[in-house]
Amino acid sequence: MTTERRKLIIDTDTASDDAVALLMALRDPSVEVIAITVVAGNVPLPQAVQNALYTVEFAGSTVPVYAGCAAPLTQKLHTAEVVHGQDGMGDIGLPIGGRTPAPGHAVDVLAELIEAHEPGELTLVTLGPLTNIGILLSRHPEYATRLREVVIMGGTGDGVGNITAAAEFNIWVDPEAAAILYQAGTKLTQVGWDISRKYATFTKEQADQVRRVGRLGKFAMDIQARVNEFALTGTKLVGFDLPDPIAMAVALDPSVATDMPFLNVVIELHGEHTRGATVVDHSGYTGRERNTHVVLEASRDRFVEMLERLLAD
Ligand code: BDR
Ligand code: CA
Repeated sequence: MTTERRKLIIDTDTASDDAVALLMALRDPSVEVIAITVVAGNVPLPQAVQNALYTVEFAGSTVPVYAGCAAPLTQKLHTAEVVHGQDGMGDIGLPIGGRTPAPGHAVDVLAELIEAHEPGELTLVTLGPLTNIGILLSRHPEYATRLREVVIMGGTGDGVGNITAAAEFNIWVDPEAAAILYQAGTKLTQVGWDISRKYATFTKEQADQVRRVGRLGKFAMDIQARVNEFALTGTKLVGFDLPDPIAMAVALDPSVATDMPFLNVVIELHGEHTRGATVVDHSGYTGRERNTHVVLEASRDRFVEMLERLLAD
């Protein structure tokens, strides 16, 4: 008996942790990645596209990579080379560059793919700012309910930000685009930075254990070189964290999330100190309609087991 593989599209601002999430999905036999769409975020769009192409090639995959939006909807682009390195991939001297993305703009390709599939057939995993998705849904609001689910790496379930006191990077880079998605009526699962901070940090010893699973494991850990330095001075975590991989783990196996209530989440667009925050109504106080499955706890053991299993070669 053959079970049909779930079809995934991944939208990514490919840098060091995105690359690991891409590898996980490309290696998971239970899903079929049908397209990778790229958006500006961690690094400018051309670099993010090259990073995605390099990663796909490194994984031995031929999944098409499409370039999307180069700037957020209303504000200028803020990048994060200080976190991920100048090339976004840890500055470890990888031969990145010179590869060619598939023809077509990511937003058009997303529309074509949604049209070409049955409602509920496609799962979208977003690992970067939500610009491509915001434009798609503002052009085609009806697509919101044609997707099976959108799993978002973004926001925070506990209100602790990583780019401001209140906001997480992906949402903060393009809050207007995020607001479109959160109001669209799609089934949403949010895996925020709090989940990465609490369940997806890696000390040198823990990273060495992943390195030992083989070539992909070594690559996945080596490209965190700059994030590892940033963890000491910026996030002040015990080791570096892997936000996109733990979000991908939840997308691949929802049982990685061990507490995931259905709550109302709105994106703060105006606050002087809170722009880009995901305001989660934990108590139901506002009476606003629930729109997001917010992951509040996850299993580190299941995540690490999945990471090592999928990267083993
Ligand atoms: C998110 O921002 C980026 O730095 C990472 O790739 C991840 O998608 C974490 O806040
Ligand atoms: Ca990312």
